[in-house]
Amino acid sequence: MKIGIDKIGFATSDLYLDMADLAYARHEDPNKYLIGIGQSKMAVIRPTQDVVTMAAAAAKKIISQADKEKISYVIFATESGIDNSKGAAIYLADLLGLLPRIRTIELKQACYGATAALQLAKGYIALNPETEVLVIGADNARYGINTPGEPTQGGGAIAMIISSKPKILELEHETAAYAEDIMDFWRPLGHSKALVDGKYSAGVYLDFLKNVWDEQLQKTGYQPQDYGALLFHLPYTKMGLKGLRQILQNASIEDSSRLLREFEYARQFNREVGNLYTGSLYLSFLSLIVNSPNIKSGERIGFFSYGSGAQAEFFSGILQTDYQKGLAGVDYQAILNKRQAVSVAEYEELFENHVFDVENIELDYQEDKSNFILAGVQDYRRKYLSR
Ligand code: COA
Repeated sequence: MKIGIDKIGFATSDLYLDMADLAYARHEDPNKYLIGIGQSKMAVIRPTQDVVTMAAAAAKKIISQADKEKISYVIFATESGIDNSKGAAIYLADLLGLLPRIRTIELKQACYGATAALQLAKGYIALNPETEVLVIGADNARYGINTPGEPTQGGGAIAMIISSKPKILELEHETAAYAEDIMDFWRPLGHSKALVDGKYSAGVYLDFLKNVWDEQLQKTGYQPQDYGALLFHLPYTKMGLKGLRQILQNASIEDSSRLLREFEYARQFNREVGNLYTGSLYLSFLSLIVNSPNIKSGERIGFFSYGSGAQAEFFSGILQTDYQKGLAGVDYQAILNKRQAVSVAEYEELFENHVFDVENIELDYQEDKSNFILAGVQDYRRKYLSR
């Protein structure tokens, strides 16, 4: 039996900040952000948007009535949780109108969360092949104004339907995982912004990559030539490029140039959206299958998932014949092109107005045209609107 990704959807803010504008405001050379970090634009999240509304928007793009009847489990991965107790998946299931006879859960392990969700879903579908699992990776990446991490912010949501009839990707059995207790990035309780030791984190990312790549190689024998593309968690796109170069150290010139070429397609959307935290690896997958004219069904795609703290996993899947159908006809480049640019001052104001630990607020959502809105908070209860 095949198990894998049947459909994939993505949603982000309708606002963005140009990285060159941010660079000028921070007295940096724009090429540091555009080339050195590898980011062109950064999603700016309105106060009326959060992980629940973005997840609902991503899921709405792909969920049919038939899916609604088959989904029996919603796994919501995020490190931007909106409650310390109640899971975001409950709010999401309600906004989407899913049936009540389902399981819903929120899970967390930094940017690895969505991969944990995917692997849990794979096991669940093996036991329940007639059903479907809705997996979400949604985040609002916040480091703070004028911090080194600022140019690596962003936000959005990925939604994936996992089933035993995957149109997009069949997950392969062998995976290599590695965990070690380290402090490279964390967000203590009560903090709305992450704390990060950025340079240390980049080093650990590469060490963990070496570890899981070597183990997967031992288990499967797969070399770079056995992959149609290699994908990476992309906190900023230069990080993935460093990872790919590390893997390609002993590869042939032909394989190197082919995999580097595919990486450019795979980072195209991430470059325009910024960090999605747990959804980043899967946005890169979406970017590859939407933008690459070379990638073919039957090819093996390798995935490196990394979540600070730290947990890593390398796994792979085989691209399926109908993979284009799993995109549900959505034109993501057109959606990204339609976004509205904001100035640095506007971004800073929106950033500071982020709704966090607020007892009561009524939000002005007139300018937010999204289908799903955070309308306010009453007695610490979040009020969502669907329209
Ligand atoms: N033109 C081209 N490249 C330039 C440049 C210019 N004018 N100026 C600087 N650069 C390059 C640097 O050489 C460096 O490249 P390298 O990493 O390949 O050496 C890169 O731009 C970044 O410069 P650096 O001085 O290291 O930036 P920084 O001290 O501001 O920190 C991060 C950059 C990424 C470490 C920081 O943004 C951060 O901490 N982000 C958080 C990301 C994170 O850790 N997430 C969790 C991990 S998964």
